[in-house]
Amino acid sequence: MFLSVVLIGLIGTLIFVYLIGNNNERYWKKRGVKFHSKNKVSGIFWDYFTQKGAMFERLGELYQQYKGEPALGIGSMMTPALFVIDPKNVQHVLQTDFNSFHHRGVDMNDGDQLADNIMFMNGPRWKLMRQSMTPLFTSAKLKNMYYIMDKSAQDFVVYLKEHPKLWEGDCFETLMTFCNAAVCGAIFGIGTESIFDSPFLKVAKKITAPSLKSNITFTLMSMSPTISKFLGLSLFKQYEDFLIGAVTNVVEQRKKDNVKRHDFADICINIQKNGTMKDPATGTELEPTYGILSAQAMFFLAAGVEPVANVIFTTFIELGRHPEILEKVHKEIDEHFEKHNGIISYDVINEMEYTDQVINEAMRKNPPIGLLTRRCVKDTVLPVGNIKVESGTNMFTPIYQIHNDPDIYPDPHVFDPERFAKGSKQSDEFYMPFGMGSRMCIGARYSRLQMAAGVVHVLRHFTVKTKQLETEMKFKTHFVNVRPIDVDVEFIPRNVK
Ligand code: HEM
Repeated sequence: MFLSVVLIGLIGTLIFVYLIGNNNERYWKKRGVKFHSKNKVSGIFWDYFTQKGAMFERLGELYQQYKGEPALGIGSMMTPALFVIDPKNVQHVLQTDFNSFHHRGVDMNDGDQLADNIMFMNGPRWKLMRQSMTPLFTSAKLKNMYYIMDKSAQDFVVYLKEHPKLWEGDCFETLMTFCNAAVCGAIFGIGTESIFDSPFLKVAKKITAPSLKSNITFTLMSMSPTISKFLGLSLFKQYEDFLIGAVTNVVEQRKKDNVKRHDFADICINIQKNGTMKDPATGTELEPTYGILSAQAMFFLAAGVEPVANVIFTTFIELGRHPEILEKVHKEIDEHFEKHNGIISYDVINEMEYTDQVINEAMRKNPPIGLLTRRCVKDTVLPVGNIKVESGTNMFTPIYQIHNDPDIYPDPHVFDPERFAKGSKQSDEFYMPFGMGSRMCIGARYSRLQMAAGVVHVLRHFTVKTKQLETEMKFKTHFVNVRPIDVDVEFIPRNVK
């Protein structure tokens, strides 16, 4: 009896799965869109779980296989999903047709307080929070913050010099310590001395470190809002006590000290003073509780540590295998140190054009975020291929593949900072390490300063050499990140004052 029930259940499930797969295929064929029929139900998500590597690599296989198609239907349980291939269509989704594609494409569940941040918010709540946090990144604020980042970079060099053990091996973790100190100091105003071993670093590392659980959770959230809601999935619950406690303490202390530091804590005080945030167009209201403010802090912390460390890391990887480019960077850095008596101010860092070109090219070849997601919220049409997209469709757009497409960047595997020289003929229409359109990264200008501070101070005192352990670059298993593994960067001290 028991066996018969199991057998009937199994057959029923198989028929159900078969019907979903067929339905997915029919859905896109009816719209004249090619469908990736290898896994009709779970599409590339299945490959992502069963193969080593990052999600952007799985999308890359499809990008190669279906190049020339405007977009490709992919299985995503019972939700229609499109992988957008043509760069013009990508631009349409990310930038041009904001009315139809302003949704992040991932559903966080209500109980996950810290997930209620700008990255994952949608609609009028997103608009209110994005408007409230934008003043944190004005030019005047960034100039103020730069002194703190620069101080963290100087302290980091001292720390590196005192710990020769860190000169060899995978330096990613080491670079994260600098990024954490810079973010904690510049954005949160925590500590006047750079702290290289802080509880914030532990949290930032944990949040961004991929685990089987976080990979499955995030994939289900992207693939099927229904299943994610049904299971009550959460990503950040375990950090709530620490982060909400820490943000409450910092803001309350700032209120008591009654000093202005023009950072995140000051913005929080202002938001709380103004009371409930209201969107007049829709009547949406948002209470500036410590929970929601901490959610923003959590994302800023994670974003200021992992991707920024990634860019510095890949910049060093490329410089460590291109001595001629490294020499030019060293020359520019040394000239500026000597000309300005070792003081690298905000204006000085902005003068270092060649170093900036090198960082841009590192983010071209190896963008830290390899793909973006959106959800269609209003029926629309993609211009290339005239593809009808219905509200509710999940959209996947490549970054890595576009940055490494020979039709957009000739010889994409060649590391060539001249692509970003002033007057270069190469178009940067599709350059998007920070995304595109109204949901583009809010911290882009901030990040550029932090990366430059790290690169410039480390390279003033060290030279770098790269040892790649495999012939092909390998990447960590992660849904959105592009994190090289099995490649070491060696720091070798330079003979400077
Ligand atoms: C190298 C460092 C960084 C890279 C490469 C990066 C990249 C990105 C990308 C690709 C997006 C998605 C954009 C889109 O959907 O079009 C994004 C969004 C975002 N980033 Fe960054 N980011 C970095 C650092 C930061 C930092 C330091 C902060 C804050 C301090 C930050 C805050 C945000 C926020 C809040 C969003 C969500 C924006 C929205 O949905 O409105 N990021 N970032």
